[in-house]
Amino acid sequence: MCGIVGAVAERNITAILLEGLKRLEYRGYDSAGVAIFTNGGTLERTRRPGKVSELEQALENEPLAGRLGIAHTRWATHGAPCERNAHPHFAGDLAVVHNGIIENHETLRAQLKDLGYVFTSDTDTEVIAHLLEHKLKELGDLTVALKATVKELHGAYGLAVISAQQPDRLVAARSGSPLVIGLGMGENFLASDQLALRQVTDRFVYLEEGDIAEIRRESVQIWDVDGQAVERESVQYRDGAEAADKGEFRHYMLKEIHEQPAVVQRTLEGRLSQNQVLVQAFGPQAAELFAKVRNVQIVACGTSYHAGMVARYWLEELAGIPCQVEVASEFRYRKVVVQADTLFVTISQSGETADTLAALRNAKELGYLASLAICNVGISSLVRESDLTLLTQAGREIGVASTKAFTTQLVGLLLLTLSLGQVRGTLASGVEATLVEELRRLPSRLGEALAMDSTVEKIAELFAEKNHTLFLGRGAQFPVAMEGALKLKEISYIHAEAYPAGELKHGPLALVDNDMPVVTVAPNNELLEKLKSNLQEVRARGGELIVFADEQAGMTNGEGTHVVQMPHIHDILSPILYTIPLQLLSYYVAVLKGTDVDQPRNLAKSVTVE
Ligand code: G6P
Repeated sequence: MCGIVGAVAERNITAILLEGLKRLEYRGYDSAGVAIFTNGGTLERTRRPGKVSELEQALENEPLAGRLGIAHTRWATHGAPCERNAHPHFAGDLAVVHNGIIENHETLRAQLKDLGYVFTSDTDTEVIAHLLEHKLKELGDLTVALKATVKELHGAYGLAVISAQQPDRLVAARSGSPLVIGLGMGENFLASDQLALRQVTDRFVYLEEGDIAEIRRESVQIWDVDGQAVERESVQYRDGAEAADKGEFRHYMLKEIHEQPAVVQRTLEGRLSQNQVLVQAFGPQAAELFAKVRNVQIVACGTSYHAGMVARYWLEELAGIPCQVEVASEFRYRKVVVQADTLFVTISQSGETADTLAALRNAKELGYLASLAICNVGISSLVRESDLTLLTQAGREIGVASTKAFTTQLVGLLLLTLSLGQVRGTLASGVEATLVEELRRLPSRLGEALAMDSTVEKIAELFAEKNHTLFLGRGAQFPVAMEGALKLKEISYIHAEAYPAGELKHGPLALVDNDMPVVTVAPNNELLEKLKSNLQEVRARGGELIVFADEQAGMTNGEGTHVVQMPHIHDILSPILYTIPLQLLSYYVAVLKGTDVDQPRNLAKSVTVE
């Protein structure tokens, strides 16, 4: 979702801003723009609907050069994705870029119009620009004016502002939308994600909620939510390895699918002893807190929500702990009855998803025992605001459709299940040692599933001309079917629905005909025979079946039935393994359809607004 980049330097910063925007492309956007305080002493901007490459082309045709600038990728919320609505927005001699949503924009717009300000876009952001212009006239100093402006804003924002009147600085404000300052030598930068700035620095200062920053070439000053000057610690990254490049792969998504054995391995590292999970992996107070847990409430969005749904089966079956799972956008606005001693668990790849964060903040007021974040980004709001954390080690995920983040979340959730069961003494004897052993083998089993790549690629041809599909699963495979359907709809735009196979007769069977392929995952468990009967019901209506089945399940190809044999795996771990062919399937269908696999239309990687 929207991306911000800013720079104040002694060299020309246009190329740095463009490179930063390219590195933020993964977040999803539909227009891009840049504003530069030019060497000629004027504030100029170029904006384009569409991709950053189109903005780049425009800047090649009519270059802008300067040492102070801000840039933005916009994901439309208020107003269509056209040039007029693209950021930066100008007001007087100010330029503003904004991530987030200003909820009181209509009231402010009316007030500013009464004062004579003229609006040229449909965005909520332009309200900030004119309000700031108004305050600057009154107060004379850009930083002071920004402090006064944010006091009147309701909603979420990450803001970056420059002014031709005071071109010695870049000013920024954070509330609900992340911002990070990149520290250089005689130059400083700003972005919504450190990844955007890794080409210029490895030292960063993360702004906290309510912070205002004044960034000059030689200095950075920060004020907290109460207006007090504060020092924020800087962090230095040395890994350098997370370069945003596709390597030998055609798309980030395929690269990320193939990284799964390695990142699952990394997520397990240091967290297992000989035959147990190390509970301290969740933090020093984990053992003491886990001993008190009698219920678990999981809250997440999108793919992360599906991971939570799988965990419910594990927590209840293995650890005997009642578990509820809910999407964050519902949870946050609902009157919730909190059971005593409930652990509140959030799951998020980014750690910045607006609804998940809001749900966590609400939960803190509701009397939960403690909060735990299972998250892929160590320096994220969700991690900072939770009592306990388990970091998945998926590495940067660029493809909007989440793949390796999901499987590492599942690993994290299984570690949680075993830890809770261990501490509370509720695991059946020998279960933990067996599953620890199975977890150790998991990376190589995932490698075997990935080796089926070309088989799945062929199966994908069955889908290229279809408009609807149905995904079926039973037990913990039902959320896997949901995740499979989500992947397919996200990147191939084929309508895909998931159902628990037992619900087939209660509605979806009416849709089944030879134009609607039915995908199902069939590990060899006690539900297999029931699943087979469900599949007969599909075949009897002419539906074409694609079955990913355990090699020991005794299922074979037949007319209208395509069976892909999967390596045998312990039933508990099967949701992780069976996710792989479904990811590959949606990937190859999307490639056949020629869609934008890594940046599907209308979607964003990190949904930092409601
Ligand atoms: C967006 C992304 C999904 C992701 C969801 C939740 O919709 O496109 O891939 O699952 O947000 O994001 P989170 O970062 O909280 O896991």
